[in-house]
Amino acid sequence: MDVLAGKVAIITGASSGIGRATAKLFAREGACVVVSGRRQAELDALVSEIEAEGGYATAVAGDIKGEEIAKALVDTAIDQFGGLDVAFNNAGVLGETKPITEMSLDEWHETLDTNLASAFLGAKYQVPAMLARGGGSLIFTSSFVGYTAGFPGMAAYAASKAGQIGLVKALAAEYGASGIRVNAVLPGGTDTPASITNAPDATPEVQAFVERIHALKRMASPEEIARSVLHLASDASSFITGTAFFVDGGVSITRT
Ligand SMILES: NC(=O)c1ccc[n+]([C@@H]2O[C@H](COP(=O)([O-])OP(=O)(O)OC[C@H]3O[C@@H](n4cnc5c(N)ncnc54)[C@H](OP(=O)(O)O)[C@@H]3O)[C@@H](O)[C@H]2O)c1
Repeated sequence: MDVLAGKVAIITGASSGIGRATAKLFAREGACVVVSGRRQAELDALVSEIEAEGGYATAVAGDIKGEEIAKALVDTAIDQFGGLDVAFNNAGVLGETKPITEMSLDEWHETLDTNLASAFLGAKYQVPAMLARGGGSLIFTSSFVGYTAGFPGMAAYAASKAGQIGLVKALAAEYGASGIRVNAVLPGGTDTPASITNAPDATPEVQAFVERIHALKRMASPEEIARSVLHLASDASSFITGTAFFVDGGVSITRT
C-alpha cells in the first residue's frame, strides 16, 4: 500500500522490540527511516534487513538522554533524506522497580530522563523540521501504567509515562494550527525484551498474571503495536491529535 511513500521518519528505541518492528513496517510502507538506540550492531543489522527488502534506512547510535542525539537524528533526516515528516519517540526503560522509600534520586532521574526528558528533547528538534515541511506526526510511546493502572514499585515509570501524555496534549494544542499532529500510543503488555515476562526472574505465574489482566487474555506482539503506530503516522489518522491512543488488549477496562 505504501501509505508512507515519500515520508521521512525518525524511530527511537529501534534496536529491539516495538521500535524495531515499527521501523521495518514504516520502511515497507515507503518511508525513509532514521533509526536509533545505543546498540550499534543491532541498528546495523536492522538497516541491512530494511535495505535487503528494498527500503531506505540509516542508523544513528546514541544515548537518548542527551540533547546531542535529538539534534543528530533530525540533522540526519534532513541531510540524508531531505526533511522530516514523522517521529516515533519510543525509546524507554522500565527502570528500577522498588518501593519509593528505597528509590534514590539518581534512579528516579535515570527513568525520568530516559522516558520523559528524551520526549521533550526529541520534540524540541523535530518540531522545527516538521514546520519546514508544513506539518507532520509526532508519536510517543506512553503506557497504561500511570494512566489507567497503578502498580506498586513503578512510581518512576508511571510518572514518566503519564508525563508524556501531558506533553502530548500541550504540543497538540501548540502546533495543531501548523499542521503537526501529536499523539501517544499506549501499548498493553507486549512481548519484547523489556517486558517483565522476559525478566531473568520471571516465572510462569508472572506470564499468566500479565496475560490474565488483558481482556484479550494474551500479550501483544511488537508488530501489533507497530500497526497502530503506522495508523497514527499516516494520513489515515488525519483528524486524530492530542490523544492517549490505547493499543492495550483491553487491560485498561478489565476487572476479571
Ligand atoms: N513491552 C511492553 O509491555 C510495553 C508496554 C507499554 C509501553 N512500553 C514502552 O514501549 C517502548 C519500547 O519498549 P519495548 O517494549 O519495545 O522494549 P525494548 O525491546 O527493550 O526496547 C527499548 C528500546 O529503547 C532503547 N533505549 C532504552 N534506553 C535508551 C537510552 N538511554 N538511549 C537510547 N535508547 C534507549 C533500547 O535501545 P538500546 O538498548 O540499544 O539503547 C531499545 O531499542 C518503551 O518506551 C516502553 O516503556 C512497553
